[in-house]
Amino acid sequence: MKMLDEYSRTIDYLRISITDRCNLRCIYCMPEEGVCQLSHDEILSYEQILHLCKLFAQLGVHKIKITGGEPLVRRDCTALIKAINQIEGIDNITLTTNGLLLSEKLDELIDAGISSVNVSLDTTNEEAYKKITRFQGADQVIEALRKAADTSLNVKINAVPLAGSSDEDFYSLIELAKDKNIHVRFIELMPIGLGQSLKGLSQAALTARIEAKYGSLTPYDKQLGNGPCVYYTLAGFKGKIGFIAALSHKFCSQCNRVRLTADGMLKTCLQYDAGCNLKAMLDAGCSDEEMLAAIRQTILQKPLSHHFESSAKDSKKETRMMSQIGG
Ligand code: GTP
Ligand code: 5AD
Ligand code: SF4
Repeated sequence: MKMLDEYSRTIDYLRISITDRCNLRCIYCMPEEGVCQLSHDEILSYEQILHLCKLFAQLGVHKIKITGGEPLVRRDCTALIKAINQIEGIDNITLTTNGLLLSEKLDELIDAGISSVNVSLDTTNEEAYKKITRFQGADQVIEALRKAADTSLNVKINAVPLAGSSDEDFYSLIELAKDKNIHVRFIELMPIGLGQSLKGLSQAALTARIEAKYGSLTPYDKQLGNGPCVYYTLAGFKGKIGFIAALSHKFCSQCNRVRLTADGMLKTCLQYDAGCNLKAMLDAGCSDEEMLAAIRQTILQKPLSHHFESSAKDSKKETRMMSQIGG
């Protein structure tokens, strides 16, 4: 079974935000005081998530990404991951985390079946890290990254470079790719939530800074994940350097994904509020046939692309914080 949207894009990847809570407060993602957290009965239960995963698998989704907030703060998340991995048709389950709890959960995560972990880290400098995340933790995250890189996992760093950051912030991340298979990805800041009032750096601006120190970035044509990242090699480095350039290199025409928020909304595009409340349907006791029809119908309405470049007011634009969506 293959699920196509209206524009013939194959939708085979589901990002599931299992919690809107987080143990950090990154300035582009979550306000310092936090956001009004969802209560336990407002979020999808593990049973409901598994039920939905089985339905999505029937429709052709075979790759699952677990996100948050910070997914590792939800109790027993590794048991959920293990159960999702056992669903017929699911052949790839990966995790995006801020890495603070990664060291202690690493063995369980591997046992649960994840193949890859993406760790958010914008700088290795503890002081700069604190300015971005409002907490200490860079050293802890780096230790977890190194530990993870010595396992069977595919390990990548997600960094969101902000204008005004020091070149050292980027260079020190790149150094982590020198001797280990750790891939460093730079993400263009997207104007969602708090990202609207900050300024990020483009792929071109970063490329210039990186090449000034390390020489040419050479295109790497193999895939290293299921997402929109484009990778390059640097002479003498084991890990690759990647760019997720949603603004300067729009990748919507190849979009393969939909999202499930912690409160059970099926979201068809990062930028738009459009979707369907699957939790409400489950709570109301809808049948699997009704659920499958609603999912298909919602995916048929997936927008062709984002319009981050447009400042026009649009009532359908996402108003939630990134932490409530899962990136
Ligand atoms: P891999 O399978 O490792 O390639 O994962 P990924 O890049 O799909 O997922 P990850 O959770 O690491 O996301 C990294 C960044 O890419 C985050 O900032 C996401 O918000 C962004 N991202 C992921 N998917 C999309 C998408 O469909 N559209 C846009 N605009 N950004 C996305
Ligand atoms: N733009 C781009 N990436 C963002 N992330 C959080 N907020 C934004 C934003 N406004 C990233 C995090 C994490 C990933 C899931 O999303 O740094 O790596
Ligand atoms: Fe938490 Fe990730 Fe948002 Fe930072 S970017 S506040 S780590 S959810």
